[in-house]
Amino acid sequence: MKQTGQFISFEGIDGAGKSTHIESLAAWWRQQGREVLLTREPGGTPLAEALRALVLQQAMDPLTESLLVFAARRDHLQQAIEPALGRGAIVLCDRFTDATFAYQGAGRGFDLRVLDTLEAWVQQGRQPDLTLWFDLDPAVAAARRAAVRAPDRFEAQDLPFFERVRAGYAARAAAQPGRFARIDAGGSPQEVHAQVMRAVQAHGAWQE
Ligand code: TYD
Repeated sequence: MKQTGQFISFEGIDGAGKSTHIESLAAWWRQQGREVLLTREPGGTPLAEALRALVLQQAMDPLTESLLVFAARRDHLQQAIEPALGRGAIVLCDRFTDATFAYQGAGRGFDLRVLDTLEAWVQQGRQPDLTLWFDLDPAVAAARRAAVRAPDRFEAQDLPFFERVRAGYAARAAAQPGRFARIDAGGSPQEVHAQVMRAVQAHGAWQE
C-alpha cells in the first residue's frame, strides 16, 4: 500500500535550535525506510536558493521581501514539496509561511491581509500537517546566536524585533492550534528532543 506523505515544518526565532532536531528526525525516519525530503525556506530549489541569497543579504522594502519569499515558496512547492508528498515522502521543512507572518508581518509590521492573500494564491490551500514551533526567550536566543555565527540581515535585528517575531508565532499558533505543537526550546538538547518526539507521536505521523 502506498504510504501517505507528511509535511512537517519547523519554526522559531533565530537561535532557537531547530536545525539539530530536523536532522535527527530525518535520520530517524530514514532508518524506518521512509523517503525524507529535508529542505528549507527560503530555498529548496535552485531558483528559491538564489532568491534566498537576495533576501538574506540585500536591503529591500517589506513588500518586496514578502513577494520574494512567496515567489521562492511557489517554486519550492511546485518543484519539490508537492512531488515529494505525491510519492508518499516525509517532507521536513526548516521554516515555511508562519515565518513570513512572524518576520515580515509581526517583525517588520507588514500588512497581514496582503500576506493572507499571497498565502492563498501561492499555496492553494496547502499547509503543513504539523508545525513544530521552537519557542525561546529572545534574549537567550541572542546569546546562543552570538556564540556560534556572524549575523545575517534578520539575525542582526534587535531584541524588540525578536519579541515581535515571537508574538507573531504565538498568534499563528493560537489561530491554528490543531496544526501547531509548541516546543519549549529552553531545555537541554535531550529534553527538547523528547518533546519533539512526543509531538510527532501525538500527531500520529510516525506510524504511517
Ligand atoms: P534560518 O532558517 O534561520 O537559516 P540559518 O539557520 O541558515 O540562519 O534563516 C532564514 C532567515 O530568513 C531567518 O532569519 C528568517 C528569515 N525568513 C523570513 O524573514 N521570512 C520567511 O518567510 C522565511 C521562510 C524566512
